[in-house]
Amino acid sequence: MSSAPAAPRKNSGQLILDERRRGLLNRFLKEWVYPRWRELTVAMILTGLLAAITGAYPMIIKASFDMLMKDQSGMLHYVLAAIVGATIMRSILLYAQTVETNRIVMRLTTDMQRVGFAHLMTSDFARLSRETPGRLVSKLTNDIGFIQQAAQAALNTAIRDSLSIVALVASMIYLDPVMSLIVLGIYPIAALPVAKLSQRLRRVAKQTQDELGGMTSLLTEKLSGARLIKSFRLEDYAADRLNKSFEHVYDLRMKAVRNRARIDPLLEALGGLAVAGVIAFAYWRIASGISTVGDFMGFITALLMASQPIRALGSLSGRINEGLAAAESYYDLVDEKPTIVDKPGAQPLAMGNATIRFEAIRFSYEGSGGAQAISDFTLTVPGGRTVALVGRSGAGKSTVLNLVPRLFDVEQGRITIDGQDIRDVTLASLRDAISIVSQDVTLFDDTIGANIALGRLGAPQPAITAAAQAAAAHEFILAQPQGYATEIGDRGLRLSGGQRQRLALARAILKDAPILLLDEATSALDTESERLVQEALARFTKNRTTLVIAHRLSTVQNADLICVMEDGTIVETGSHRELLAANGHYARLVRSQALVGTLEPETT
Ligand SMILES: Nc1ncnc2c1ncn2[C@@H]1O[C@H](COP(=O)(O)OP(=O)(O)O)[C@@H](O)[C@H]1O
Ligand SMILES: [Mg+2]
Repeated sequence: MSSAPAAPRKNSGQLILDERRRGLLNRFLKEWVYPRWRELTVAMILTGLLAAITGAYPMIIKASFDMLMKDQSGMLHYVLAAIVGATIMRSILLYAQTVETNRIVMRLTTDMQRVGFAHLMTSDFARLSRETPGRLVSKLTNDIGFIQQAAQAALNTAIRDSLSIVALVASMIYLDPVMSLIVLGIYPIAALPVAKLSQRLRRVAKQTQDELGGMTSLLTEKLSGARLIKSFRLEDYAADRLNKSFEHVYDLRMKAVRNRARIDPLLEALGGLAVAGVIAFAYWRIASGISTVGDFMGFITALLMASQPIRALGSLSGRINEGLAAAESYYDLVDEKPTIVDKPGAQPLAMGNATIRFEAIRFSYEGSGGAQAISDFTLTVPGGRTVALVGRSGAGKSTVLNLVPRLFDVEQGRITIDGQDIRDVTLASLRDAISIVSQDVTLFDDTIGANIALGRLGAPQPAITAAAQAAAAHEFILAQPQGYATEIGDRGLRLSGGQRQRLALARAILKDAPILLLDEATSALDTESERLVQEALARFTKNRTTLVIAHRLSTVQNADLICVMEDGTIVETGSHRELLAANGHYARLVRSQALVGTLEPETT
């Protein structure tokens, strides 16, 4: 996708906006509409035929009235046949045209959703976490909905209605050129106010879409926080927050409705004016014998038939502007290129014993005002060994773990695995080599078995069962109504925290990667199941490079090396014994935990 060079700046801000919109429209047409030219041609032919038949109606009306006036009743059956025939033809065409145009539009918006979602899935983790899921959902649902409505209006109104208008005007001119001039003189009066109103609509459209994003975000957040809301009795607070947003969307939508609603009566009034003028003029013309009653009736029919498509054209620009505002936000989404990607010519990671080295790394989060989350962090995790990171919450332990699978890239220094900079190898091979289990377990709306199988898609049931056994999860899974086939529902609300953690461990065990990263992976387990899991883990981590974070220091006593972190860097390293003997940071941490017993410090 070639992004156009920045539009030349002109002196008026309004002009820049319009140029940008025009660029946006052109790009949208080029990328999404032109490739469908074949289907569009079919739709257009159907539309053209429909317009032609519409234009023929006034002629038929004229013929029948002329006949009535001249009393040629012998021709009646021809006229009736023409009316019935034209009606049937029009009905069939209307059906085909409606289905075909809607099919094009639905296909278009479905493809946009597919491309948008696929793009999001390949986006940087930082980009995905920058916006709430609700806002991203809104871009792929609400905003695409606006684009759909605009495309529908464009195909139906812009093409069908303007062709109908052309056909009707043509027959009006044929029937009475002078009278046509009068009518055509009246309608342009409406152009200026209609343009003003659409401009206002465009502004409202952007605001509405932003607010809809905010509303979706609030909705998902509040609905997924059901536990908090119930237990803290926050129902009224949540309702207040949402009601404000609902009302704001209501206000914006009403603003749009009022602006749009002004257009219709304006055109309607002008239509009435035109009809009155035509009747007065026709009365004089028929009386002086210049035109026939048939001419007049045909003309009035054309005029009345034209009023609906003219009104539709009047409100089209509002719809198009809403669609363009939405297309803008869609493009904001798909234009952001991921920065964490394979280097050109990246090779797969060549696995040795999986030694991880952090070489003087530095890292700060986007938007954290330059505050260093990690600084001068140097550590070697020897292949097949277990290294533990301990320290107060906020020390940077989780951040270090997230840097290994390149959820973020380091700013300075480098991380190597068996001597290869992780930025030089393919992302796929790097991530295949790593199992990560973090404290907040993600479960999808699927069966228990399928959730474990996320570790290795397509894994056979025996492998899944073995992994569950190794994670001390097999028993509780069998106790579920349908065992491994039990649906766990959105985010696994049916399971306890400890059960969820054991599923996450089973998933990691099933993945069977040479590097294991555990971020407080057993923090939610009770002492009994933690003992079971620790035994299982001890077997599993043997000869596997493991970097483990644990708040409960008792669980890392046996690590080959313990590193105490503070403010993003390592302040003390050694074995459990050595560190106790040194009587420094680690010893202090151990003492503080002994004092609070099983109470855990707050985790982040
Ligand atoms: N996504 C994020 N965006 C900005 N700052 C973050 C983010 N995640 C963590 N931090 C900050 O980075 C520091 C280290 O956090 P973290 O690695 O989670 O600590 P730990 O796991 O040791 O509790 C903290 O100051 C925290 O506030
Ligand atoms: Mg953490």
